[in-house]
Amino acid sequence: MLCKIVGIPLQVGASQLGCEMGPSAIRVAGLSDALRELGHEVVDLGNIAPPEPGEQRHPNAAVRALHEVSGWIRATTDAAFAASDSGMPIFLGGDHAIAARTVSGMAKRAAAKGRPFFVLWLDAHTDFHTLETTVSGNLHGTPVAYFTGQSGFEGYYPDLEVPVDPANLCVMGIRSVDPAERAAISRTAATVHDMRAIDEYGFVSLLRSFLERVERENGLLHVSFDVDFLDPSIGPGVGTTVPGGATFREAHLVMEMLHESGLVASLDLVELNPFLDERGRTAQLLVDLTASLMGRTVLDRPTRSY
Ligand code: ARG
Ligand code: MN
Ligand code: MN
Ligand code: MN
Repeated sequence: MLCKIVGIPLQVGASQLGCEMGPSAIRVAGLSDALRELGHEVVDLGNIAPPEPGEQRHPNAAVRALHEVSGWIRATTDAAFAASDSGMPIFLGGDHAIAARTVSGMAKRAAAKGRPFFVLWLDAHTDFHTLETTVSGNLHGTPVAYFTGQSGFEGYYPDLEVPVDPANLCVMGIRSVDPAERAAISRTAATVHDMRAIDEYGFVSLLRSFLERVERENGLLHVSFDVDFLDPSIGPGVGTTVPGGATFREAHLVMEMLHESGLVASLDLVELNPFLDERGRTAQLLVDLTASLMGRTVLDRPTRSY
């Protein structure tokens, strides 16, 4: 597989600065070598250039860094769409606001190929705020509402070319949802598995039924991996830790199942804040998890176990 690495060093969508260093830390932790060891070809396309400085206000005075975030989302070339012309793009954040752009670029790619598009969102949070409902004003809390075409972004974020059907969105790992998000996402057809559901049914059965659907419909799957999906004890390098996240083994199992499915077309690795990390261990874990997603196994296995 040809892997295309694209860095998007946006940090002002998060409350704490530092995600700007995310792409560097993931590179230093050895992403390219890990992929090459698995037999993949790797092209590192470098980082997307930052947008022009400026300012834009929103009636919701809480909203922070709107011009900068929307500038990154709209940036000069449509990097996600361009990178996905062949091979598998791996987007290195950057805070999660970059997914507004990576996911909508991939949705456009799927539409160009005439394939249905699916998103697996691995996160402690639903990131389903609009510019009107956000209370913290941190725009990394908004990408899912944006790319599923909820109203409240018009005139601020770029017009959406191809919205993602919420019915094709599966969110896993959830344990922190604000009241407005909770009300808004429950009005959609999105599948949302909070940690309560995961404790009861396990990742395997929940993920399997989603992947079976993607396969049945011949879909293209984008995986968006927020570091805070992980339990803070194994992934401390993130600004928005929430206790009770995925364990080391659960996270690897999810990645291994994704590999075996053969369905993943693109990946975001977001919210890594190296300033908050401990001797690079969260960055290292992201590289190891990506290796699992790209085929690293303990023993030889048939490519398909379900
Ligand atoms: N819902 C909270 C907020 O809007 C947390 C968002 C966290 N998002 C993230 N991508 N880490 O501020
Ligand atoms: Mn934050
Ligand atoms: Mn997130
Ligand atoms: Mn999160």
